Amino acid sequence: MEFQEMKQQLYELISQKKLVSATISQPRKKSAELKRVKLKPVEIKGQYHIQLEYQYERVLKHHNIPLENFYPNLEELFLHFRQFHGQFTDRTIQVQLTKKNKVFWKEEKTNTLKEVSLSHNRKKNYILDESGTYPFLVRLGVQTPEGKIKKQKYDKFRQINRFLEFIDDSLEYLPKNEQIRIIDFGSGKSYLTFALYHYLKIEKGLDIKVTGLDLKKEVIEECNKIAKDLEYDNLEFLVGDISDYNDEKSVDMVVTLHACDVATDMALARAVKWGAKVILSVPCCQHELNRQLHAPALEIMTQHGIIKERFAALATDSIRAEILKLAGYDVQLMEFIDMEHTPKNILIRAYYTGRKPGVKEIEQYKAFVEFLSAQPFLQNELKEYLPLGKP
Ligand SMILES: C[S@@+](CC[C@H](N)C(=O)[O-])C[C@H]1O[C@@H](n2cnc3c(N)ncnc32)[C@H](O)[C@@H]1O
Repeated sequence: MEFQEMKQQLYELISQKKLVSATISQPRKKSAELKRVKLKPVEIKGQYHIQLEYQYERVLKHHNIPLENFYPNLEELFLHFRQFHGQFTDRTIQVQLTKKNKVFWKEEKTNTLKEVSLSHNRKKNYILDESGTYPFLVRLGVQTPEGKIKKQKYDKFRQINRFLEFIDDSLEYLPKNEQIRIIDFGSGKSYLTFALYHYLKIEKGLDIKVTGLDLKKEVIEECNKIAKDLEYDNLEFLVGDISDYNDEKSVDMVVTLHACDVATDMALARAVKWGAKVILSVPCCQHELNRQLHAPALEIMTQHGIIKERFAALATDSIRAEILKLAGYDVQLMEFIDMEHTPKNILIRAYYTGRKPGVKEIEQYKAFVEFLSAQPFLQNELKEYLPLGKP
């Protein structure tokens, strides 16, 4: 088969709307920045398009081309690449080209017809598409270099996606024409921090500066190395304790994911003091209230250690939400991941509105903490910011 004929045959199948997905790879120049391009059909405003996902060393770009304009793109792709692997509804096709464009064409009919999915970009509203390859996910070991999500990392992938959905919903609350300052407290291995950077900077093109802070020196060193390799210039990781981190004048978004016990409260307190517009926090292992809790009327519950622990955790998050409301935030407690029904699965989402709390809200809060004999760390940290009067 001739080179020209090969392209026309592929285009013929694509124009018959038989393409399920394809990958064009093996750059003719080894040093090329663009490593491979994935193709799939998508429907946009009722019109059939071919989506091209350009996979560069560190960046992904998407272009959607109406089917009738697609042939020049296909020609262009074969100027840069020598390998094609395509899944069509009724066959798979593998093409290998030599440097001089001699064609090796291998075709296999499939027994059952494959379905074409025209959903645009995302499965199950995922922000990171399962069929995409994301350099940061490869570096963090969530995906293989070929873009396959590792089986044991699938929950992490879902968790990252879920967090990105919350980030996406928060965008309207962030500053528009200035750099957005973001801090991830207790960033640990920093899956989330990298995801956040990828999404806001690489995909959305926003001007952001992100810092991840954690106590663990080795983990932070590794994260800084990965950020440098990926050329994520406005992403830095620092070793430090949240309670000593006072270097910032103002921060727009504070996130914490499973920062242990009162580390979450330290992060929330810092966020409020900086006037952060957005706070997203999934707390973890709350012990503080469990130690303080004394409410004879609740003894039927609290006599059981496991119930007391869960009750204390839920009451702690309710108290956190109330304190943030008293500090001028609009707050919701939401389910983080739909399969994990534990108190660790609650996300506190707070947007700053500056609304002053009413007398009833203030009294309700006071009555609740008094009833539990609670002395919340967060309340103490924020005493100058809350309208609670003198203790
Ligand atoms: C359970 S890990 C979660 C890591 C990461 N956010 C995630 O979800 O993958 C909690 C992290 O919080 C960090 N941490 C706990 N207390 C801290 C503090 N006071 N200051 C800074 N980091 C803290 C720990 O070192 C740990 O890496």
